[in-house]
Parts: sequence; C-alpha cells; structure tokens
Amino acid sequence: MMANMLLDVRGLSVGVMQGGRSTALVDGASFSVSAGEVMGLVGESGSGKTITCRAMMRLLPSAATQVTAGQVLFEGQDLLLLGDGAMRAVRGQRLAMIFQNPLSHLNPVMTIGAQIAEPLRRNQGLSRREAHTEAVDLLRQVGIPDPARRISDYPHQFSGGMRQRAMIAGALACRPALLVADEPTTALDVTVQAQILRLLLDLRDRTGLAIVLITHDLGVVGQTCDRLAVMYGGRVVERGRVAEVLARPRHPYTAGLLASQPGRGVPGTKLPSISGQPPAPGELTEGCRFRPRCTLAADICASRIPQPHAIADGWISACHRSAETQALEPAA
Ligand SMILES: Nc1ncnc2c1ncn2[C@@H]1O[C@H](COP(=O)(O)OP(=O)(O)OP(=O)(O)O)[C@@H](O)[C@H]1O
Ligand SMILES: [Mg+2]
Repeated sequence: MMANMLLDVRGLSVGVMQGGRSTALVDGASFSVSAGEVMGLVGESGSGKTITCRAMMRLLPSAATQVTAGQVLFEGQDLLLLGDGAMRAVRGQRLAMIFQNPLSHLNPVMTIGAQIAEPLRRNQGLSRREAHTEAVDLLRQVGIPDPARRISDYPHQFSGGMRQRAMIAGALACRPALLVADEPTTALDVTVQAQILRLLLDLRDRTGLAIVLITHDLGVVGQTCDRLAVMYGGRVVERGRVAEVLARPRHPYTAGLLASQPGRGVPGTKLPSISGQPPAPGELTEGCRFRPRCTLAADICASRIPQPHAIADGWISACHRSAETQALEPAA
C-alpha cells in the first residue's frame, strides 16, 4: 500500500454490447495514483486509455458501453458505487478531465469567462462578481496574457494553445485533487506542447494536483511523469516508476514502444520493433493479446492470459516470458 494514495483502480473492465454479447474494451486494468503524482497512461491508438478514464469518471460514451467489473477507489470511496448526484459532486469538486480537442468541449457561443464562471457559481456557490474575479485569476494562473480583457473573448478568438489553457483553467476551477488529461497536447505544435506540459507540472508543484496524463508518446512520459502504466488491447501490461521502466522495460510491448520512439530504435540493439496491428476488441481474448507481434512468443502465450507479477517494488509486468525479458535492455 502506498502512502497518500488518491486513486486506486482495481481490475476495471469495460464491455460494449455488440449483437447481444458484451465484448471487452478494457480487461481488468489496475493502477494507482498518489497525491501530487503524475501518472502516464500509455499505449497505441485503441488500447483503451480513453475508455478506462471515462469509465473511472463515470463518463462512458454510450449506454452500450458499461463497466463489467472492478473498483475505482478515489479518496477512499468506490466511485462506481456512488449515486449520480454524488458522482456529479465528485466530478465538480475533486476530479476533473481535459481533452485533446478543446473546441469540441468549449461552447462556441459562450465567452471563455462565462464558461469558467458558470461552474464556479453552480458548484461553489459564488456570486456573479466573485465568479468573474476567480475566472480572471484562473486564466492568469494558466498563463493567458491580459486575462481581464481576454475573458470576454469567444473560443474562436483564442489560439489552440490558449484554448487548451482555458480548458485547464475551467478544470482547475473546482480545485480538483486529480486531473485526468487525455492527450492534452497532441493537437498542438511542439513548442506549445512543451508549454502546456510545463504548465501542468507547475500546477502540480504549486497545488499538489495529481495528474493522469494519457499519451502515446513515451518521450512525453519520460519528461513529465513519475510513474506509468502501459496498456495493450485493453489490458495494463506493465507499470512502474518511469525511470526504472523506461531504462529496462520488462514487457516486450513496452520495449517495442520504446524502440519505435524517434531516436531510440538503434540498429543492432536488442530492442524489438513492433510490426503488425493491435487486436480489435473481441479478437485474441485467450492468452496474451500481444503474442502475434511478440518476438518472444511461446506456446503458453497462446493458451494462458499472462497475469501481472512483481518485477520489483511497485513494478509489475504481465508477460509469461519475464525471465527472458531481462535481456530487453536498451543499449544506450
Ligand atoms: N462508444 C464506443 N462504442 C464501442 N466501442 C468503442 C467506443 N469508444 C471506443 N471504442 C473502442 O474501444 C477501444 C478503446 O478505445 P479508446 O478510445 O479507449 O482507445 P485509446 O487508447 O484512447 O486510443 P487513442 O490513442 O486513439 O485515443 C477501441 O477499440 C475503440 O474502437
Ligand atoms: Mg483516446
């Protein structure tokens, strides 16, 4: 058990109803986040990162997608057992989420200021004037220049980076303990990306905010996160401290992801690169889902689902060949 654990996701599974059957999109995902920690959730497109976090926030996209197992312990209570009203209160006050594309989550016909002030009035009972003052302050905190004037702008008058800052300001309005950031910088150019990541780290340092950062970029994880969880085909295949896992990945998928990062795939090293495609939901449900792409795959990988096992304190990998994966060390 970790000190000041804030979020503890245990065996979370999400299914989608298709043709009268439930197909798993997320299968027994487990990870935890401590107060003030940045946890990276990594994996290729379709690996279940967004669905996992939406399930956690009780914001699944449709009635066809449902949690089928697991617990989401947040500040000591299982969010999956809360009534809708209590869950809305948690989302309005302790837990917030930001998304890749701010434009699809900002109202185009409402000023930026109104969109930040409105929830402040609703959730914190501030007066119109108090909410306005607080909204200006939040915009200042996220680095919007001249916030007293820009607060009256509409989203289309903001640049992409400013819109992401405004969405972060809106998320911070409730002074959350945990921010779930779903690819918050993917749509931005490299310079602005770095600024937004620096802003998130700065907020963590100043306020003790914990962050779940969803990304497919291990470079971002290396620069930003304390720990990471790697997802493949709806399962968490490896998790641990960033410094340890990225130095010596123990799951062949993590090693492959690392090798495919620009500048890391050095010819002649032992890191395998990953060819092929991840499985679609419902495919390869028996055994290890990574096996068709894995250079270490053996018979057991087809017949038994690899269970997570401890590599070291706080470090787990779900691979049958973990004895062999000790060799998966980057040369440099
Ligand atoms: N509303 C939905 N109904 C059915 N299946 C869905 C729905 N939303 C997502 N999926 C499926 O669930 C799986 C996981 O999707 P998810 O969006 O969580 O992936 P992701 O890891 O966030 O990918 P990306 O990096 O592209 O954002 C995918 O196979 C996707 O097609
Ligand atoms: Mg996603």
